[in-house]
Amino acid sequence: MSRIIYTPPGGPPQGPAPSREIYRLMGEENIFRMISDLYKELEKSEVRHLFPANMEEASKKSAAFFVGLLGGPPIYVEKYGSPRMRARHLPFEIDEKARQVWLACFDRVLEGAEAKYQFPSQYLPGFKDFLHSFSSWMVNKG
Ligand code: HEM
Repeated sequence: MSRIIYTPPGGPPQGPAPSREIYRLMGEENIFRMISDLYKELEKSEVRHLFPANMEEASKKSAAFFVGLLGGPPIYVEKYGSPRMRARHLPFEIDEKARQVWLACFDRVLEGAEAKYQFPSQYLPGFKDFLHSFSSWMVNKG
């Protein structure tokens, strides 16, 4: 069956990337734990069906990306190549509803993130703004 791919009219995200200080202040282990908790939330969510059976594996791949994004070493790029995030999400049908569910999962994980993961509080609003804007670009179904 053919599929019509939706392209968000806003185009690629224009907002600033998260501060690269975040990695220095949190460290790799906290980032992996944060993303592992995200995948535990996703596992219980309405978008579970989009993800592979092995959520622990999926979470590690995502965490590698977030380490680089937040200022750490480029472990994702070294292992998997260029991020091309929109392209990598195209195999999964992501509509605005799925994006909202994904964001709500991340929001729950970020509640109390300062204590749970040593997330530097001054960079939390910027990180949330980034997730909000970048996730729009992952939407590929109208
Ligand atoms: C800020 C926005 C987002 C970021 C930074 C992000 C990041 C990532 C990364 C790094 C991966 C691993 C890609 C790979 O190498 O295969 C991934 C996979 C995936 N993401 Fe996202 N994502 C975002 C938004 C979303 C949204 C809104 C959804 C919709 C529910 C979603 C669903 C998925 C799915 C289904 C996979 C595939 C899992 C797998 O096969 O391992 N993502 N994401």
